[in-house]
Amino acid sequence: MKAELLKRFFRAIASSDQEAIDKLTHLVIEEERSKGHTLLADQLENITKKSQKEKSTDRSKPASSLRDATRTLPENLDALTELPTSKRFNLPLVTIIPREKLRHHMVLPENIEKRFRRIEREYAARDRLAHHGLHYRQKILLYGPPGCGKTLGAERLAWNTGLPLLKVRFDAMVSSFLGETASNLRIVFEDAAKNPCLLFLDECDSIAKSREDYQEVGEIKRVVNTFLQILDEYQPSSGLLVAATNLNKSLDTALWRRFDDLIAVPKPGKQELEFILKETLSAIEIGSINWSRIIEQMEGFSAAQAVRVAQDAAKRAILEREELVIQEHLEEAIAEIQVS
Ligand SMILES: Nc1ncnc2c1ncn2[C@@H]1O[C@H](COP(=O)(O)OP(=O)(O)OP(=O)(O)O)[C@@H](O)[C@H]1O
Ligand SMILES: [Mg+2]
Repeated sequence: MKAELLKRFFRAIASSDQEAIDKLTHLVIEEERSKGHTLLADQLENITKKSQKEKSTDRSKPASSLRDATRTLPENLDALTELPTSKRFNLPLVTIIPREKLRHHMVLPENIEKRFRRIEREYAARDRLAHHGLHYRQKILLYGPPGCGKTLGAERLAWNTGLPLLKVRFDAMVSSFLGETASNLRIVFEDAAKNPCLLFLDECDSIAKSREDYQEVGEIKRVVNTFLQILDEYQPSSGLLVAATNLNKSLDTALWRRFDDLIAVPKPGKQELEFILKETLSAIEIGSINWSRIIEQMEGFSAAQAVRVAQDAAKRAILEREELVIQEHLEEAIAEIQVS
């Protein structure tokens, strides 16, 4: 096996990045096959197939540290197949995101990572906390610039707590009929409180706008009032509520204190940018790169833009049949994003 491939393999194992491990395993098998080591390639393939089979039958079992967080899942999933719908149009007001579709790998500055982990740890220890009369952090607001991990953060919380993720569909929820948005909102919360789940209000600005905004009509103010009331009353026996917005300045000021935790998800710093680039490129060979020069050119980039730079650079390398990402590929991809 090539030294670079071996290093990437070890990096993926060290960071428990299953996606990268799977990709690299495939690469190793193909490399052995291309060298004519067919028997070895077949044996390696059989080993991976066997372990994938075991994992898929084991998937419903939670990680041991989060065992009590997920123990009620199977029967809840059945209950959740009956989704709340809007009265008038019979449209589902929420979508369930299946566990296998949840993205959960994210790169965050240490202090923010700790705050996400604290939510997960409190959730796992909720029974012990309750025993001492304490509540786990249950209502979370994620805010910050676009493309830095608010939606991803909610998915990661669902993944790590083992809770099914119910995403509110604001397109179905917000109705032009007087009073209907507020009543749809109530239906969703009442239903979500019945079963443990992570109720996710992504881009919640439409129901959380400042009531002082003179441009807003009475109906919006009524919806915001209802939302505030519901947040006060919402005490599901188990589960999480996560709201996300990048318009935090226009949110109603009364909203902030209704949450147990407010997390500003920031743009990545230099270290995080480098990490995101390297992780995204982990399945392709990398030539000698002056990383600090690359990172300097990416000042102000969001995490989503960093992923894009790495993916574009990898595509350039593959299309040019170099199969090796070099400095120019990354710099061209950066320049393109800067222009756009
Ligand atoms: N912290 C992060 N670590 C790694 N990748 C990230 C991170 N944040 C964002 N990304 C990448 O950017 C993509 C978009 O992120 P996400 O949807 O979470 O952004 P967002 O903050 O919700 O943006 P918006 O405000 O536009 O909804 C993700 O799918 C992922 O590829
Ligand atoms: Mg988002």
